[in-house]
Parts: sequence; C-alpha cells; structure tokens
Amino acid sequence: MGLPWIEPISQKFVTQVGLITSDGIDGPNIMACKWTHHISYNPGLIAISLGLSKATVKNIRNTKEFGMNLCSTDQSILSSIAGEYRGSSYDKIGASKELGFEYYKANKIKALMVKGASLNIECRPFQE
Ligand SMILES: Cc1cc2nc3c(=O)[nH]c(=O)nc-3n(C[C@H](O)[C@H](O)[C@H](O)COP(=O)(O)O)c2cc1C
Repeated sequence: MGLPWIEPISQKFVTQVGLITSDGIDGPNIMACKWTHHISYNPGLIAISLGLSKATVKNIRNTKEFGMNLCSTDQSILSSIAGEYRGSSYDKIGASKELGFEYYKANKIKALMVKGASLNIECRPFQE
C-alpha cells in the first residue's frame, strides 16, 4: 500500500495518537504524536517519531524526560489542539485547561500528565 507524503489519504492513516507532554523554557507543553509505538517489553521501550522543529524536541533534549499519554476517545479535541499549535508561541496546556481538560503532577518527571488518557507513562529518552 502506498501512502504518499502530504496526500490527504495519508493524513487519514492515523493509528493511536500519543499526547507527548514536556516541560521547558516556554513552560509546560503538549504535542500530538500519531507515530507512537510500543517496541519492547523488557526493557520497556516506546518509540516516538518527532519532527526536529518541534518545541517538544527542544524540551526533551533539555530535560531528558517526557510524558507519553495515549489519547482516549473523548480527547480528540485535545489531540487537535496539541497537534495544530506550536508550544513555542501558544500555551496549549492553558488553552486546553480552559476547555475542561485536566492534568496531574507526575511522580518522577516535571512534565504534566494528561488526566483521563488511556495510558500514562513517564519516560526518559533511551536513544535518539
Ligand atoms: C493527530 C495528529 C498527529 C500528529 N502526529 C505527529 C507525529 O507523529 N510526529 C510529529 O512530528 N508531528 C505530529 N503531529 C504534528 C505536531 O503535533 C505539531 O507539529 C505540533 O504543533 C508540535 O507541537 P510543538 O511544536 O509544541 O512540540 C501530529 C498532529 C496531529 C493533529
């Protein structure tokens, strides 16, 4: 099956959307990442594919940590906000809170975690 880059048909080929939370000089951030995959049980590894221009990449490189929150079915609007705006110029966490989405403090990392997500995992980069 061919999925040509940028074609509308390719844009529809979404599996499960990861909401990647991070923290950095612009404050807490969230980004939508459909290229989120579980790739190993032991050690537990998740692969996320991020465009290098993303504010999230800068945050993860600086802090060496991030949150992986699998989007639940009632969080599609949150996925749109997280995926349509840049954290460097827009407070996506603040805007989503105003719409009623909630976050909680992580145990081991500074990034906020998405309340009500299908799965929440606090992550540290293993390899870039
Ligand atoms: C549903 C959805 C899925 C997305 N998946 C990815 C992805 O897998 N990788 C990626 O680099 N960008 C993906 N994006 C685009 C980023 O979420 C978008 O560029 C975002 O503004 C980056 O935020 P940041 O600059 O605050 O980190 C996706 C967008 C949407 C709406």
